[in-house]
Amino acid sequence: MVSSSVTKIFKQSPLPFTGQKRYFIKSFCEVLNDNIQGLGDEWTIVDVFGGSGLLSHHAKRLKPHARVIYNDFDNYAQRLKHIDDINRLRQQLAEVLKGIPRKNKIDPKTHALIIETIKNFDGFIDVDCVWAWLLFSGNQAESLNQIYTQPVLYNRLRKSDYPDAKDYLTGVEVVSKSFDELLPEYVNNEKTLLVLDPPYLFSEQISYRKSKDFGLVSFIKLMELIRPPFIMFSNYRSEILDYFDYQIKRNDERFLNYKYTSISAPLNNVGFYRDNMIYKF
Ligand SMILES: C[S@@+](CC[C@H](N)C(=O)[O-])C[C@H]1O[C@@H](n2cnc3c(N)ncnc32)[C@H](O)[C@@H]1O
Repeated sequence: MVSSSVTKIFKQSPLPFTGQKRYFIKSFCEVLNDNIQGLGDEWTIVDVFGGSGLLSHHAKRLKPHARVIYNDFDNYAQRLKHIDDINRLRQQLAEVLKGIPRKNKIDPKTHALIIETIKNFDGFIDVDCVWAWLLFSGNQAESLNQIYTQPVLYNRLRKSDYPDAKDYLTGVEVVSKSFDELLPEYVNNEKTLLVLDPPYLFSEQISYRKSKDFGLVSFIKLMELIRPPFIMFSNYRSEILDYFDYQIKRNDERFLNYKYTSISAPLNNVGFYRDNMIYKF
């Protein structure tokens, strides 16, 4: 059970994470409230493609009596344990970058100092944070070496420390398995909600270090395992709704009377993208 002292609610993931569902939180919580009574007694909620754990965090806050399982395929929980070190390195880099305008290219001398500061740092180095501070890219870096070998770096350093996130996953069970190993453990339990936010086919496979293998075959496997109750996210332009409709025509009752909502969200300050949240209880 979540202790009463745990009150902080995160509107976004404590550390950067591409594809986090921050703009869907309101709709996600509404759907949970509409379909899961009270505090969630007897329910299990499995966040199968957990990413930053943001949906698990909100599920547990909203339905504290439910068992919430966060599938942390990317070791995000590990990153969270090192926020103090991450902030310490951020502060050191802020000193080096003093006077360099934000979003501008970093001159060669400062560039060398930045790399030296990172190499000399005596604590945990979070590759994804450093990548976000120094480069314009939504994709995850493969390694620190990839950062060391960049010809050009930019000053995108975050202005303030990351928040304390010690309680972010309080009460949430953390596992780390591929979806096709995890789902069979839960699909036969009626009161288990599947939260499915897979890498979007063809667009996000390159965004996550570990998504290279999430292709068409994985998607087909996922569609074999899916059953209500589920909440699934997909790209607005993907053909998932067409696929669900097609399956309904083929008398696949798993998708009959599904509902969905679309949300627009800002994309790198240059435009908008739209995603769907499809659900059936
Ligand atoms: C769109 S993101 C999920 C974002 C998450 N809902 C959030 O709010 O932060 C998709 C996640 O699925 C993970 N993933 C990729 N292949 C997977 C697999 N085979 N099994 C489980 N998760 C996988 C990716 O690494 C990524 O973290």
